[in-house]
Amino acid sequence: MTRWLITGGAGMVGTDVRDELLDRNETVIAPGKDDLDITDEQTVRSAVRDAKPAVIVNCAAYTRVDDAETNEHLANAINGSAVEFLARAANDAGALLVQISTDFVFDGSKRAPYEVNDRIGPLSAYGRSKLLGEVAATHAKEHLIVRTAWLFGTHGPNFVEAIRNQVRKGTSPLRVVNDQRGRPTYTPHLANALIRLSLNPAARGIVHYADEGECTWFDLAKAIVEESGASTEVVPVTTAEFPRPAKRPAYSVLSTERYERITGVKPESWRAGLHEYIHAR
Ligand SMILES: NC(=O)c1ccc[n+]([C@@H]2O[C@H](COP(=O)([O-])OP(=O)(O)OC[C@H]3O[C@@H](n4cnc5c(N)ncnc54)[C@H](OP(=O)(O)O)[C@@H]3O)[C@@H](O)[C@H]2O)c1
Repeated sequence: MTRWLITGGAGMVGTDVRDELLDRNETVIAPGKDDLDITDEQTVRSAVRDAKPAVIVNCAAYTRVDDAETNEHLANAINGSAVEFLARAANDAGALLVQISTDFVFDGSKRAPYEVNDRIGPLSAYGRSKLLGEVAATHAKEHLIVRTAWLFGTHGPNFVEAIRNQVRKGTSPLRVVNDQRGRPTYTPHLANALIRLSLNPAARGIVHYADEGECTWFDLAKAIVEESGASTEVVPVTTAEFPRPAKRPAYSVLSTERYERITGVKPESWRAGLHEYIHAR
């Protein structure tokens, strides 16, 4: 049995990690933001001292990618400086710090899957703040940084739910960008991967986890419509036709080669995750 402290315990990933650990009869403390604000160093210190965790999984984050462009200071405080507090507290407790990071640390100019040591170059304030978090996490003596991408899960707003809402409203056609490629990832699959990696001493430093299969947002939207049994028309458009405040990488397919080598396990499929999601939510 391992003692776990999950920060951001009420978020989309935090809830799935907590639930998966509880299913395995692990000892878990998973406070939400109201009970553990990670930007308050004293609170972090005393929470870690009280919980005495062997593993801290940081699921807390500022995740509003477009808003971060005008709130970079706050994004940096939550995604960057607060991780420094967690790293110090992890060192005091002799705990492993697991930091969740993102494909948005890459600039998307590559056309082959991004390996863990590939050159980083975030295009957005959110990406830069997450990169600060990666650097801060390395200040924990024992640390694991798991980059993941394109998450969908039942405990938070996400692209799959946004498309389903449009389908329910009867919007047709749906115009969806077809020039950004990535690997959609179902959060219960990520939760399993995070636990598997945390418990494996060979899995330290940076590891990528994303579900199997790459596609564009347009492909994903088509799959959502199909899986929902709807007849909504989906039309491909370009990113240029739908400008957003934050720039996104055009190509952010993560290579999971290191994950597969360390664990001996292949990532699960996003298509299977989508099927489960649509029938669970
Ligand atoms: N979603 C994606 O597609 C995606 C892709 C790649 C990586 N990630 C990473 O995955 C991790 C989990 O994200 P998620 O999708 O689960 O996001 P989420 O649902 O927004 O969860 C983040 C949680 O952190 C909480 N939080 C915010 N500020 C906090 C603070 N100061 N102290 C403690 N908690 C705080 C949020 O509370 P409030 O909502 O009340 O602010 C929220 O409950 C993040 O590190 C994110 O960067 C996400």
